[in-house]
Amino acid sequence: MNSLGPEDVAAIVVAAGSGVRLGRELPKAAIEIAGVPMVTRAVQAMFSGGATRVIVVAPEAWVERFEQFFPTYGERVSVIPGGLLRQDSVRLGLEHIGEAGIVLVHDAARPLVPPFIVDRVIEAVRDGDPAVIPVVAEADSLRRIRRSWTVAVDRSTFLRVQTPQGFEADTLRKAHENVGDKEYTDDATMCEAIDIPVVTVPGDSLAFKITEPMDLVLAEVIARGES
Ligand code: CTP
Ligand code: MG
Repeated sequence: MNSLGPEDVAAIVVAAGSGVRLGRELPKAAIEIAGVPMVTRAVQAMFSGGATRVIVVAPEAWVERFEQFFPTYGERVSVIPGGLLRQDSVRLGLEHIGEAGIVLVHDAARPLVPPFIVDRVIEAVRDGDPAVIPVVAEADSLRRIRRSWTVAVDRSTFLRVQTPQGFEADTLRKAHENVGDKEYTDDATMCEAIDIPVVTVPGDSLAFKITEPMDLVLAEVIARGES
């Protein structure tokens, strides 16, 4: 692979999960949406939004199969085996970003993210914010669990966090070095743990995560409507 320089934007597309909640035999990222694998759509969105290189982190036994999902990008896409937890997969991806100055971390499970969201995140990092996340408002009422009962909370004080999340490469490296045994659901939270301020930009409902079977139905309908 050609070496990456400070001007490069490397996107780590984490696709190594199995998709237990979706309950299919194929790994979630390999499932097709309107004929195109989820991970292929995610990679396309990264390039369309301004990434210059993409590292796809695939389930260990599926690396060769996943390599066939990106026939047109040549050396701009590399596929590597992932780890047990999402954060392990990101850490393994970070070993392949060379000297890239900006790194995006994106869930393959968000295949319909609009490229303008990717661009928005990159621009915010370029403008000097070391950790940037796209967010959307919560639509449901929310309650906090208190032992055997629940208490209503003000939903306007909560935001739903999407990907791609964007980082200064050195910041994300430091955050991952600090992780230890702790489990994190995303990379911005790791940055916060080392006192890096996390900046939000508006996300988009199309960046929703495919988690359960109904999400797949929705994605299929949307993707068919677009093609
Ligand atoms: N992921 C990963 N490596 C892991 C676990 C998750 O790269 N060890 C990736 C998934 O492939 C997905 C993203 O992280 O793109 C978000 O995770 P999630 O939606 O939870 O996907 P899965 O872990 O595959 O699904 P489930 O939790 O239902 O098994
Ligand atoms: Mg998971």
